[in-house]
Amino acid sequence: MFYKTYALICCFFCFLIVGCASEVVSREPGVTFPANYPDDFVQYARVDRTDGKIRDLFINRSAFEAFQPGSTLPNNTVIIIDGYYASRDAEGNLLLDEQGRYIKDAPFENFHIAHKRSDWTDADFLSSLRVGQWNFGSFNPDGTAFDEDLNACFNCHQVQVSTDFTYSYRQLARFSSSGEIQYFLCNLSERIACPEETGF
Ligand code: HEC
Repeated sequence: MFYKTYALICCFFCFLIVGCASEVVSREPGVTFPANYPDDFVQYARVDRTDGKIRDLFINRSAFEAFQPGSTLPNNTVIIIDGYYASRDAEGNLLLDEQGRYIKDAPFENFHIAHKRSDWTDADFLSSLRVGQWNFGSFNPDGTAFDEDLNACFNCHQVQVSTDFTYSYRQLARFSSSGEIQYFLCNLSERIACPEETGF
């Protein structure tokens, strides 16, 4: 009887240990492309730029529901930029839809992702830089890593201290209170922050 109980307890702990260990190793290191995108994500903003780029910004629904405007973003926030080149006519002029907005053409070659976790370890980072609890990744449409320098992400995002290192915090807060996807046209090119993106 004693041995039976002992064996049962042993089995239980073995199960726990194996279960826990497999949970630890089952997480791939670093930012991974979320399998539940776009289904479990919400679009909160769209930024068009006069250099002919359209960026749709999505956040995972669970983080959005936990988000409190004025506070930092919740643990396990995942934000994705799903970008497109804007359509041009034969002369290279940007085409506009009936709302005066650019029209989406080919998608970007990559998705930019920022993921906030309280339990990142050094092995999760491809960069020696750190920005709060955020890690960054760039992905091909098939979810494999897109080859680019991730130090640039950390360098550029680290200045946004007051908005938890995000540029679109204000848009997220406004979307949270209005339910309207926040749109604006930025006349600066590439990744230069527009006035709409610096602060609350
Ligand atoms: C030189 C500055 C710069 C660099 C480099 C940069 N970003 Fe950003 N990022 C921005 C700006 C500005 C925005 C706001 C959206 C916009 O204006 O296009 C943004 C927005 C984002 C967002 C949406 C959440 C937020 O912060 O608003 C994610 C996710 C993101 N960037 C990921 C990345 C990743 C991943 C990299 C590196 C591969 C990267 N960024 C490199 C400037 C930069």
